[in-house]
Amino acid sequence: MKFFIDTANLDQIREAQDLGVLDGVTTNPSLMAKEGITGGNNILKHYVDICNIVDGDVSAEVISTDLAGMIKEGEALAELHKQIVVKVPMIKEGVKAIKYFSDKGIRTNCTLVFSAGQALLAAKAGATYVSPFIGRLDDISTDGLNLIGEIRLIYDNYGYETQILAASVRHTMHVLECAKIGSDVMTGPLSSIEGLLKHPLTDIGLAKFLEDYKKGN
Ligand code: E4P
Repeated sequence: MKFFIDTANLDQIREAQDLGVLDGVTTNPSLMAKEGITGGNNILKHYVDICNIVDGDVSAEVISTDLAGMIKEGEALAELHKQIVVKVPMIKEGVKAIKYFSDKGIRTNCTLVFSAGQALLAAKAGATYVSPFIGRLDDISTDGLNLIGEIRLIYDNYGYETQILAASVRHTMHVLECAKIGSDVMTGPLSSIEGLLKHPLTDIGLAKFLEDYKKGN
């Protein structure tokens, strides 16, 4: 499973990259605003800064909601850097834009997906990634992980190449469950990745090994 980090914070991206297990980055307008990155040119520069830190795909979101606007923005984003994947919302015009980009060889991430039907449409339009938001479904007492399972089944039934990118991952158990279900990618905060490291028996075992080593020296 690929690990993406869901942030626009450059320090956290560097930290994840240094761990050696990072495959990409997802951002959205809210994450950009959280880092104080506003204004067209600053946002574009920030995408390039992110691409220069990581080796993998970096999702950059269009903010237009009409087809012509999405195409104009998406083409400009794709021109910025070869690692950019154009993030397009799951709306009617978005499906058309994904089909357009797919025909042009521009990679896309279909975002704000909350149902299997939406994921099926995204795959048919040729999305590179589909982003079901599991945490936000959990927030409204709906099983987000169940959606990952439904999409996996549908994509496997027909051999769709669209990669399932489990988004809105909130914690380490989400990561593990997504891996069990067969999500191709997960995107979450640094803490959801670092949580995989932790086990008290590892800490106790290491302390004992070091203590015993000292005894023999
Ligand atoms: C996906 O690409 C989104 O940026 C993200 O995962 C949303 O997560 P949130 O529900 O924690 O805001």
